[in-house]
Amino acid sequence: MAALGYVFESQTDTEVIAHLIHHHMAQGRDLLAALQAAVKELTGAYALAVLSRREPDRLACARMGCPLLVGLGEGENFVASDVSAIVAATRRVIFLEEGDTAELTRGAVRVFDADDREVAREVHVSGVSLASLELGPYRHFMQKEIHEQPRAIADTIEAAIDAGGFEPALFGANAEAVLGGIAGVQILACGTSYYAGLTARYWIEAIAGLPCSVEIASEYRYRDAWADPRHLIVTISQSGETLDTMEALKYAKSLGHRHTLSICNVPESAIPRASELVCYTRAGAEIGVASTKAFTTQLAALFQLTVVLGKLHGKVNAEQEADYLEQLRHLPGSIQHALNLEPQIQVWAERFAGKQNALFLGRGLHYPIALEGALKLKEISYIHAEAYPAGELKHGPLALVDAAMPVVVIAPNDRLLEKVKSNMQEVRARGGELFVFADHGTATSANRKACT
Ligand code: M6R
Repeated sequence: MAALGYVFESQTDTEVIAHLIHHHMAQGRDLLAALQAAVKELTGAYALAVLSRREPDRLACARMGCPLLVGLGEGENFVASDVSAIVAATRRVIFLEEGDTAELTRGAVRVFDADDREVAREVHVSGVSLASLELGPYRHFMQKEIHEQPRAIADTIEAAIDAGGFEPALFGANAEAVLGGIAGVQILACGTSYYAGLTARYWIEAIAGLPCSVEIASEYRYRDAWADPRHLIVTISQSGETLDTMEALKYAKSLGHRHTLSICNVPESAIPRASELVCYTRAGAEIGVASTKAFTTQLAALFQLTVVLGKLHGKVNAEQEADYLEQLRHLPGSIQHALNLEPQIQVWAERFAGKQNALFLGRGLHYPIALEGALKLKEISYIHAEAYPAGELKHGPLALVDAAMPVVVIAPNDRLLEKVKSNMQEVRARGGELFVFADHGTATSANRKACT
């Protein structure tokens, strides 16, 4: 572009694209045709909405790899990456497909496929509620979403509670045949969703008796992975639009995996659309960048998947199923109990505010919970945080522990509690400051702070 005389004010790819579209308009194309010509020269992922001073009543947009939708209003139309941005104006939306472009005026919308042929895409009516997009009494959306967890979990498990059991139909009409015929599970996801998958592995192997691997989608998609077509591919994604997860799903299919299941929070998003079976979590709109209720509702969905698999593979009997259902029924109340600890957590947060680093420790299925805790702390406070399986402490990380290092321990009253207690002793011996999440009634020591 520089050779054509364009002067750059930034080093962003967005500016390159703007100049490229301008270049095509200078050849005599209108805005849409210029955009269509420009995107054919692009590689990678983009979601573009373009305006031109020459055609001020027209908007052209293009999508590849990133979410983009068109909202259909009365005498007005919209482009957005998420329904929540436009739901106050309209609920009627068209989800653009990969390679699509579209042209919008106040009165009309035209959509074109990757070969620039005009196409009719389905119009969806979004069910996102306006109330879910309002802050209410909360200080910020992350706080609101943390407090929405009892409701979000209750909604996510509602179908199982109403049915009085874990039916394969929770995952789609054909789920019984598919889930009953698989020989294992391969989970693919990113970030928080990956940690939900890591947690589920403990359940799927222990309760359903099936082998389960979990892999970060951005790693899986670029390696020569070994595929067993009898294994179910489970993708987990709050948004349903994460490019690495979508590409990992496509790659798994290309390797011969025939059965796919999406656990997702956003209906009609790309990943569930590309999957054979779907389970929608019912967390509601996620406005905060940091996943909170998305994570716990994913866990609720994955637990239901585990019990369904256990039933279909003869590992969970009726009595155990009833017991799991009863435990699930109490979950929203237990979460509310944990949320009532907020004043105590605020006191802890003040102690953390001046720290540079933190360690999170857990064992068994609480190790992925520790990973998620460390991700939340670094993402939201910019404090460096790492998580380890507590048994790994003595293999290196213990060297980092001193009075300046807060150590958060997840220590529920399970069969690993005594092991975790001895790990806490190692921290104490190095002068580390312990912050412990434990079950009510677990023996406490004078040398640590505990949330029970
Ligand atoms: O929408 P997805 O669940 O696919 O997003 C994957 C990650 O980007 C996401 O989980 C991210 O790690 C969290 N928002 C962090 O809190």
